[in-house]
Amino acid sequence: MAELRFDGRVAIVTGAGHGLGRQHALELAARGAKVVVNDLGGALDGTGASTGPAADVVAEIKKNGGEAVASPDNVATAEGAEAIVRTALDAFGRVDIVVNNAGILRDKSFKNMSPEEFDQVIAVHLRGSFLVTHAAWPHLREQAYGRVVMTSSPAGLFGNFGQANYSAAKMGLVGLTKTLAAEGAKYGIRVNAIAPVAWTRMTEDLFPAEFQDRLSVEHVTPVVVWLAHESNESSGETYSVGGGRVSRVFVAEGPGFTKKDGLSVEDVRDNWQQINETEPYLLPRNIGEQTAALFEALQ
Ligand code: NAI
Repeated sequence: MAELRFDGRVAIVTGAGHGLGRQHALELAARGAKVVVNDLGGALDGTGASTGPAADVVAEIKKNGGEAVASPDNVATAEGAEAIVRTALDAFGRVDIVVNNAGILRDKSFKNMSPEEFDQVIAVHLRGSFLVTHAAWPHLREQAYGRVVMTSSPAGLFGNFGQANYSAAKMGLVGLTKTLAAEGAKYGIRVNAIAPVAWTRMTEDLFPAEFQDRLSVEHVTPVVVWLAHESNESSGETYSVGGGRVSRVFVAEGPGFTKKDGLSVEDVRDNWQQINETEPYLLPRNIGEQTAALFEALQ
């Protein structure tokens, strides 16, 4: 089978100065994409800024014979997001791929989490992904082609102690992914999300040291690169990926309990087990399919 190439394609990768984003940018560039390497260059908690990380990754791509341009802009502001897209248009004349990867952490138990700590994490992960994708969207629509990859997290999909802000943002990205997939469908825009696990500065204190190699970022990037390729037609999906394992994560609805002639509180109590059944489940592709199932049950 032929190697998957990106010649002629222009990709934006946010937060590409370190970790996963850096690896996505290197791999896309090695396969022929022209890459906008965005990174604000701050600390893990989002404080500070530096042009260094983005510039370093651009230098590395160029040294390898690829094409890239740095964007030290902030994904969390509308001006920053527009500047990132403008960088792509000014340098390369188009944009085909948006990989929303930039992220910060402000972990606190819910009791101790301030509204500011909640807002700051939402602003980078969820609102930042909205802003950058929104700035690129008219160009993707116009050319009737685009690939968008969001970066969710197992913490959002399944919950994690101390990450109320982060998990809300990361599950929010799943909803954003599904709706953008619906809105982009007829314009050739495919939108998917990954929920990665990898050894980076974000997680190095969490994982046992012996997993450093097994959880390297190289084991995550192939899924992002596939989702960014024109031959991928899947859209609206979320894939769990880490350590070389890849699987689809899905939101499904159980068979439930239906009572057509008035549901009482006692009916809920008495049928709690059936209400909590997961098999056979329905996997609706959109709200239409979900409500159609309800109408069917009511007939
Ligand atoms: P990282 O800290 O190495 O990379 C994140 C990058 O985003 C940094 O280079 C940072 O400078 C940049 N950034 C932060 N705020 C920014 C802003 N406002 N504008 C532009 N750039 C900004 O961490 P890692 O692990 O590579 O994370 C990448 C993504 O993967 C994040 O969205 C993270 O939440 C997600 N993720 C990572 C997991 C892991 O196991 N490493 C697990 C689940 C999700």
